[in-house]
Amino acid sequence: MNDQPVPITDVRRARELFPATAELAYFNTAAVSLASSVLAAAYHQFVDEWTESGLDFVRGEAAADTARAAVAALIGADPSDVALIASVSAAAGLVSASLEPARSGQNVVIGEREYSSNHFPWRLLANKGYEVRQVPFRNGGLEPGDIERHVDGKTRLVAFSAVQSSTGHRSDIPAISAIARAVGAIVFVDGSQLVGAMPVASELGLVDVLATSDHKFLLNAGRGIGYCYLSPGIQERLTPINAGWKAGAVPFESYYGPSMELSPTASRFDSSISWLAAIGDEAALSVFERFGTDAIYERNRELSDLLRAALAGAGWTPVDLPEANRSTIVAVPLGEADPAQQLRELREQGIVCAARDGNLRLSIHLYNHEDDIERLTAALAPR
Ligand SMILES: Cc1ncc(COP(=O)(O)O)c(C=O)c1O
Repeated sequence: MNDQPVPITDVRRARELFPATAELAYFNTAAVSLASSVLAAAYHQFVDEWTESGLDFVRGEAAADTARAAVAALIGADPSDVALIASVSAAAGLVSASLEPARSGQNVVIGEREYSSNHFPWRLLANKGYEVRQVPFRNGGLEPGDIERHVDGKTRLVAFSAVQSSTGHRSDIPAISAIARAVGAIVFVDGSQLVGAMPVASELGLVDVLATSDHKFLLNAGRGIGYCYLSPGIQERLTPINAGWKAGAVPFESYYGPSMELSPTASRFDSSISWLAAIGDEAALSVFERFGTDAIYERNRELSDLLRAALAGAGWTPVDLPEANRSTIVAVPLGEADPAQQLRELREQGIVCAARDGNLRLSIHLYNHEDDIERLTAALAPR
């Protein structure tokens, strides 16, 4: 007789892999995700082996490649087009460093209220002579028509978040990409709040760079590795300014040169990685394969819609977004309410969320359930 437990594969049971859900109604993946027991076991085992017999960094490198392939599958990329770049800001820095000093009138177009990792690197391009054009937000995000008014024949780059972190506004990637590409501008997309939460594969061909880190919807809050899709065209245009042994064609044979043979793939843009993070990411990302990405996306969409409706029903009307601009983040303007006190009151009842830019921010991921939403609406004071 086989006594092995049957693995859980129904996404409605996903929370069984996330022990914290036993106590918490967790709506804070847009900040950091919960840990799965799969992730925790992988960390424990790696640290035990490290303690007993030394750290196996070759194993860490192999885990990073598995994780790279898993993220590539999630976003519909070939793994050879995905670089390991730890943060969105570092990916933006790579691109901005490759832009030549501006010629007269050259500009970049960015969002006025973007998360700073996708804002400061571009603001600094003013030092190279670029006019940095900041597009005001409308409906909590960037509307294509507003971007269009800021773009001209001298625009070198358009940068935006796929989903705005404070409002959940999902950008219209096809429309913004068309505006940017019409003038030959680079399309840089911060995927932090989208990748792992919702599908993006069908839009990948419309972007030059899609950067994300691992600590939100990719399920490893310990963070340490980021994944950066670079289109084949942009790879040709960028200089791998952080190249070291890891950027070599064969990293383990690239310690001392003397020749410099960089990888022909996007891995020539890799940074040296955290092996611990790689072990964690490999395990964390295995959850996507277990439940199936389509099932996860569908469930996320279903619960986000339910959350939106339940909040409205409780008098806490979320930022009103057209269907196409909705994501797995639902934001409610806090008005006069004190954000810190509001969060504290919810936290006391085991409900975890965030306050961002004047909004109560609630985010959904596969471990949420209908009962979390019931608990939340019961806990919120009637409005
Ligand atoms: C929209 C967005 N972009 C980027 C980041 C993180 O940036 P970085 O990877 O540079 O730390 C966050 C949150 O941490 C975010 O919400």
